[in-house]
Amino acid sequence: KPVLKVGILGLGTVGQGVLRLLKNNAEEIERRVGRKLQVSHVSARSAGKARDCDLSGIEVLSDAMQLATQADVDIIVETIGGISPARELIEVALTRGKPVVTANKALLAEHGNELFALARKQNLSIGFEAAVAGGIPVIKAIREGLAGNRIDKLAGIINGTCNYILTQMQSKGQSFADALADAQKLGYAEADPTFDIGGFDAAHKLTILASIAFGMPLNFAAVSVEGIQSVTAQDIEIAKVFGYRIKLLGIAKRGAGGVELRVHPTLIPESTLLAKVDGVLNSVVIRGNAVGEVGLYGRGAGGDATASAVVADLVDLARGFGGDVRHAVPALAFQPEAVQSLAI
Ligand code: NDP
Ligand code: HSE
Repeated sequence: KPVLKVGILGLGTVGQGVLRLLKNNAEEIERRVGRKLQVSHVSARSAGKARDCDLSGIEVLSDAMQLATQADVDIIVETIGGISPARELIEVALTRGKPVVTANKALLAEHGNELFALARKQNLSIGFEAAVAGGIPVIKAIREGLAGNRIDKLAGIINGTCNYILTQMQSKGQSFADALADAQKLGYAEADPTFDIGGFDAAHKLTILASIAFGMPLNFAAVSVEGIQSVTAQDIEIAKVFGYRIKLLGIAKRGAGGVELRVHPTLIPESTLLAKVDGVLNSVVIRGNAVGEVGLYGRGAGGDATASAVVADLVDLARGFGGDVRHAVPALAFQPEAVQSLAI
């Protein structure tokens, strides 16, 4: 079977993690998939910069568009982040017949309806497991594992940076600013950390989760958002005295009038599971009408954990198409119109 050639746009925390994982687990993945996944091209703004991954035998381009249009690349992985040029690059890749895997929740939450429509038109898939909760396979869990349920509610800790900051403030007495600086050094934070601490990254993820869980179009504007900027050490201390933890939660709830979507700091009794989710860990609890509550837990940010989700999407693609990239789609595509659509 032919080798599958992968091109990776972006060589930061996530891009490097994907390269390391594909190299370290190459044999295992090939055995599982039945063919080799080979990274042939990567792109970064500074093509010559030293990276924490092995780039031997890989063409490193400074022109991302050159990669997206590369004729001999079968799949494009987008790990640049932000709206532009990521959006244009993905559009070009899809137009040229290449399926895409992306970790870019901001782009999907804000422009995903158009991108998924283009992918469907092209009969191609966009894999986005890495866009929500890092290494936790929450997209696949909702879309596949819980597909027989009506989902009534989901709630969770879906931003590793905020959870890390709140944990450090609570358990180590670290200041907000120092904890944020550490989260940035560890590769957890967004390029602009306002997205994390302002609650917008969690809102992007909630938008995506709700779309899959409730079968509605992506609607970022419908999320009510409050971040953690105003949470003080004193708030955390008082909450502790009364037996509570403060966590930034994303909550999506089905109600009589539609689906309610909100992100805000929340007081959680310390005896509950979510209260014990600390540091960069994330957790999502989903309530289905047949299964009851299902909880998922794991690392929500960082290069290696996020690479786990990106590579899972690559494996899906490699398993799904028997030679022709274009036929990978139906089982993997995002088809919100196929399920009940709810007004918000
Ligand atoms: P980084 O900032 O670490 O890496 C971004 C990469 O993209 C860099 O290699 C950079 O090049 C390149 N790049 C940036 N701007 C441009 C541009 N305008 N044109 C071409 N290339 C560009 O980001 P992360 O790896 O942390 O995040 C990437 C994506 O993954 C984002 O969408 C993020 O939200 C998402 N994500 C991140 C997680 C994490 O834990 N970090 C977890 C889950 C998702 P250069 O290196 O030369 O500057
Ligand atoms: N900045 C994000 C976070 C990365 O801290 O959760 C993972 O999506």
